[in-house]
Amino acid sequence: MSTVRDSFQRPLRDLRISVTDRCNFRCPYCMPREVFGPGYAFLKDPQLMSLAELRRIVAAFRALGVEKIRLTGGEPLLRADVPDLIRMLKTELGVPDVALTTNGWLLEKLAGALKAAGLDRLNVSLDSLDPAVAGRMNGLGFSPERVLRGIDAATAAGLPVKVNMVVQRGVNDEEVLPMADHFRSRGLPLRFIEFMDAGNTNHWSATQVLPAREIVERIGARWPLEAAGPAYRGEVASRYRYRDGRGEIGLISSVTEPFCKDCHRARLSADGKLYTCLFTAVGWDVLGCLRSNASDSDLTDYVRKIWAGRLDRYSDDRSALLAAGQTRPKVEMSYIGG
Ligand code: GTP
Ligand code: 5AD
Ligand code: SF4
Ligand code: SF4
Repeated sequence: MSTVRDSFQRPLRDLRISVTDRCNFRCPYCMPREVFGPGYAFLKDPQLMSLAELRRIVAAFRALGVEKIRLTGGEPLLRADVPDLIRMLKTELGVPDVALTTNGWLLEKLAGALKAAGLDRLNVSLDSLDPAVAGRMNGLGFSPERVLRGIDAATAAGLPVKVNMVVQRGVNDEEVLPMADHFRSRGLPLRFIEFMDAGNTNHWSATQVLPAREIVERIGARWPLEAAGPAYRGEVASRYRYRDGRGEIGLISSVTEPFCKDCHRARLSADGKLYTCLFTAVGWDVLGCLRSNASDSDLTDYVRKIWAGRLDRYSDDRSALLAAGQTRPKVEMSYIGG
């Protein structure tokens, strides 16, 4: 294995793979219905990477030091061969940490198969326990019950679960305390994600961001908290423990406290393009490289060169860019997997 560092000396450690750009939810902060409606051109075969192609592409990233793979979407569980993909990553490629981020809608049915395939852990998105608020946040009026049953099925199957809540001021911020209460009583880590200016269609506004600091204050006033160190270097979430020993929360503060300095994440879209930042518009065509008869070492060299030239640090620069009135086109979050 030969590791590679980017222009700011950041290694390549994690690969987030979007396995489909489709989703069965229409969260307005990610896939607003008016944009992702019936006429939207989603990817289809043969644009998508096959399992055999994914095997070779992931092997190239493994050769450069990737230890963690996170499967995302869209909604990754919409793709029927996800358990086969997980099995291949674990048994054939020996990936130490294979995780998946899901909206939980299909989890009750699939939790056992994911565990049996070798999945290490799971992050489930849920923005509210209140049916009306949850229904607005997922864009389709779906109630949270089924997602909660999915979470129960995953924990019963022996999968460690963390819950992700996107917080939008004025939309679901009243749900911060009820969500904290619910998941601390079940011992599951709940992570609060600041509403991000991802993509070009979610009508982001800084006024809708509830800063992580304020979330910690609100929760800490009810159940005292203490800061906990990162579980690993470059962890996206800052962690806090409840002082009464009832578990922990995390804050993903990409807007108010960016974490680009240690960003070691690459992203692969379902059509095999490599993105070196969540907020870039430019993808490198790794699948195209493979399909033009590249050898394994050609593929590794292709990825190595891209990573070595990486300069991304969008969240660190966001305030300056916004103050200067500069907006850039960005890739959509549902396409690149968040
Ligand atoms: P763990 O491995 O459990 O720490 O997962 P994770 O937090 O890296 O992944 P997850 O898919 O649960 O992402 C949670 C939130 O963090 C999502 O909103 C992601 O878009 C966001 N996120 C993850 N990585 C990055 C990143 O590199 N930059 C930014 N700005 N946001 C990120
Ligand atoms: N801001 C913050 N988080 C977002 N996610 C999707 N869109 C946004 C956004 N605009 C979250 C999802 C999921 C994770 C992968 O990304 O809710 O938890
Ligand atoms: Fe689907 Fe997740 Fe985007 Fe919601 S945030 S529309 S569940 S991909
Ligand atoms: Fe990494 Fe880009 Fe997120 Fe910064 S904004 S942490 S460089 S993905």
